[in-house]
Amino acid sequence: MAHQAGYEPIESASVDELRAVQLERLRSTLHLSYTKVDHYKKAFDDAGVHPNDLTSLADLASFPLLTKADLRDNYPFGMFAVPRTDVARIHASSGTTGQPTVVGYTQADIDTWATVMARSIFAAGGRPGDIAHVAYGYGLFTGGLGAHYGAEKLGCTVVPMSGGQTEKQVRLITDFKPRIILVTPSYCLNLIDEMERQGLDPTTSSLEIGIFGAEPWTDELRQEIERRLSIHAVDIYGLSEVMGPGVAQECVETKDGLTVWEDHFYPEIIDPETGDLVADGEEGELVFTSLTKEAFPVVRYRTRDRTRLLPGTARTMRRMERVSGRTDDMLIIRGVNVFPSQIEAEILKVDGLSPHFLIDVGLEGNLASLSVQVERSPELSDPSLAAAALEHQVKQNVGVSITVDVAEPGVVPRSQGKAQRIKPSS
Ligand code: DLL
Repeated sequence: MAHQAGYEPIESASVDELRAVQLERLRSTLHLSYTKVDHYKKAFDDAGVHPNDLTSLADLASFPLLTKADLRDNYPFGMFAVPRTDVARIHASSGTTGQPTVVGYTQADIDTWATVMARSIFAAGGRPGDIAHVAYGYGLFTGGLGAHYGAEKLGCTVVPMSGGQTEKQVRLITDFKPRIILVTPSYCLNLIDEMERQGLDPTTSSLEIGIFGAEPWTDELRQEIERRLSIHAVDIYGLSEVMGPGVAQECVETKDGLTVWEDHFYPEIIDPETGDLVADGEEGELVFTSLTKEAFPVVRYRTRDRTRLLPGTARTMRRMERVSGRTDDMLIIRGVNVFPSQIEAEILKVDGLSPHFLIDVGLEGNLASLSVQVERSPELSDPSLAAAALEHQVKQNVGVSITVDVAEPGVVPRSQGKAQRIKPSS
């Protein structure tokens, strides 16, 4: 048998083989979308394109982009490409506007999702027989159930803990001794704090692998979590509209960004201003076309996530760089673009500050100003020194002036799932 790097042979297919699979699947996705979903028929017709026009992968760029607003306009089931009776599962993501985005899966879609998620856990270092503690929320959010089905498919023993009940989480980790944890990085910090509060030494826990995603995080936070919990921390990416967790996964052997499971999800990067395609290696907005989905095919869906595409390393498939943030979360402070993840990176470089923080955007005259509330670690003796150090670092490395308020441990609201880094405007 040929050397197989991953969970499935396709992960080590040649690039030519992969492109051929993609082209064939792309064609059928375009046909399915055009013939079964009114929105695509109208959008393709308006743009003067037909699925038969696609003769190469590059031709995809002439097809119209799909936005979150298009999905909202077709709420709840208008984007489904199969009869409702063939839809085995619904998930939804709650947007900021209150109108949820609804997505659907056939049984075959759920199997595909479990497979890419099993691949992801394998790439993270998980193996059949491992105990996997799932602390992503279960319910309409795709995190819990997505991780759950994938871990089961791989052959793990799954602990479906969901988010919240932090004390109980720690107790179950201590008692059941999982090797793998699947959780948002911000909630993992709470779990580590809780272990310490209970007098446990987190570095001696049974955990060896953490699969962290659903929110932006940084390499600095990776190092912090790896050190405090003594595990390998890897990044997982996904979004409900495209599938859920398991669209892309960082391989533990390289930890150099996330391998996109390109045989199921075709990535492009566009300039978010013009919508034009940019070359691999350039940063922009990530766009996905599903290649195998039945119930809810997406053609050129604008994720609003910023990243760049890189050549494959641990797998032949391309990688995406860690997502720096969502275009909607980007703050523009006196002309400088700032993502909350950049603030996180600087906080972690200052001794005595902990990565629990909240950014407040205010106004000074007519100009936006930034203040950051960040918790001190229990050992910190001089908060004003740490505040000055952070203000200096952010000015130096991010290019904006901020004011820093060093708060007592426990003051910043804790997340049980995705952390909110920007204080909602009152
Ligand atoms: O967050 C799916 C997921 C669950 C991914 C568990 C990973 C782990 P949504 O709720 O639809 O789905 O939110 C999707 O979350 O567009 C990104 O902005 C953000 N996001 C997800 N993973 C990452 C990541 C799930 N690894 C939105 N890094 C996406 C940065 C991420 N942002």
